[in-house]
Amino acid sequence: MSKVSWWSLLPGCCGSDDHNRRSAKSANKPVEKQSSFSDISSSTTTGMLSPEDLSVSLVGSNLHVFTLAELKDATHGFSMCNFLGEGGFGPVYKGFIDEKVKPGLKAQPVAVKLLDLDGGQGHKEWQAEVLVLGRLRHPHLVKLIGYCCEDEQRLLVYEFMPRGSLENHLFKRYFAALPWLTRLKIAIGAAKGLGFLHDAEKPVIYRDFKASNILLDSDCKAKLSDFGLAKDGPEGDATHITTRVMGTHGYAAPEYIMTGHLTAKSDVYSFGVVLLELLTGRRCVDKARPGREQNLVEWAKPCLTDARKLSRIMDPTLDGQYSTMGAQKAAALVHQCLSQSPKRRPHMSAVVEALEPLLELEDLPSGPFVYVAPGAEHGDEEGEAKADGRESGRRHGHRHKLRSPKAGRLSDVALCREVGARLKRNSPLLQTQNETR
Ligand SMILES: Nc1ncnc2c1ncn2[C@@H]1O[C@H](COP(=O)(O)OP(=O)(O)OP(=O)(O)O)[C@@H](O)[C@H]1O
Ligand SMILES: [Mg+2]
Repeated sequence: MSKVSWWSLLPGCCGSDDHNRRSAKSANKPVEKQSSFSDISSSTTTGMLSPEDLSVSLVGSNLHVFTLAELKDATHGFSMCNFLGEGGFGPVYKGFIDEKVKPGLKAQPVAVKLLDLDGGQGHKEWQAEVLVLGRLRHPHLVKLIGYCCEDEQRLLVYEFMPRGSLENHLFKRYFAALPWLTRLKIAIGAAKGLGFLHDAEKPVIYRDFKASNILLDSDCKAKLSDFGLAKDGPEGDATHITTRVMGTHGYAAPEYIMTGHLTAKSDVYSFGVVLLELLTGRRCVDKARPGREQNLVEWAKPCLTDARKLSRIMDPTLDGQYSTMGAQKAAALVHQCLSQSPKRRPHMSAVVEALEPLLELEDLPSGPFVYVAPGAEHGDEEGEAKADGRESGRRHGHRHKLRSPKAGRLSDVALCREVGARLKRNSPLLQTQNETR
């Protein structure tokens, strides 16, 4: 999903061969108007700072300043073997840092994000990211380890998130279906991260809450990433800030698109969209679907407060394995978050309070948990699934029992580990009922 600037795009400048990779994504990158803030040290979206001013404002942040050569070493020369993905900012590579890269560094895998110098984003987004993550730390925000600012090159070095983005897990065919409780945990984690930003001493509006910006660690713990569009919240008596309309189609709140008035409640709307994606397994905008289904919010909203209709829009890859009561409560919450009036949307702390008890609900169906086996087209497994009386009505592949809940259902975390271990081993995500661990 591409980000958009509704008003303008800035021209880019040329980069080196290594960094000249172009993608469809890079054609549509966000740019926003410069805004000025007086308090350099704590402001998120201050005007352009020189590298010297930036390092002064980051004193105490524990961020490491890397050279380009060090990060090249850490990523095998930004090798394609280390390529993790690419968004509006530029390509992301897996790397490894330790004492050899820089004395005093803890040995750890990292993700190195490199500004595409031909793209629509630039120093401003890079700086916003460094300033927000340099001053705010939270278990549900991705950790920024350091940065590089050399000539025109701008890089960011993050903790490595082994499971990549929620977007991949929800919408890419090669990932197994996310179990219900994992979806809830991800929603709760992301809500906590967002709530932390809103309640910070100097509140921050994230402005880019979406499935691709929610990263998952090895236990499927959710962390927010990408703070290039983040803005300091209104100060004093101000109810909102007025800013260029930026964000991603399908996630941005309607009043923000219409007026440019930005509040924390704009983020709450975006949270509602992501929670709806978690419930339905559908992208917020999907041009491949029939006309009236292309906009998820428009399509799903009438079903959110009607229990019977809700069951029709729940993600079919869940295969009914979810708490009905939990789904209804989550859907009611989505409905609230998507209120036209920002005032009627809940605060993020209320969202967390509403979601957490859903983990404890005991009306989870007792049928076996089944995986979608990505890419499996034919074979014995299909026969087995049919013999089990659970005909495949799924969009992708076939289903395979993992373990009967009554016989000791795996925790969601264990499920995540299982999927991860199998991905690492490159083995198929298949597990039959009798298979033992
Ligand atoms: N810290 C990280 N650890 C592991 N993978 C990461 C990390 N950060 C980013 N990635 C991977 O790199 C990909 C690109 O991320 P990036 O945030 O640049 O773009 P995006 O979120 O897909 O798009 P957008 O520019 O609209 O935010 C992600 O899909 C994710 O899989
Ligand atoms: Mg992103």
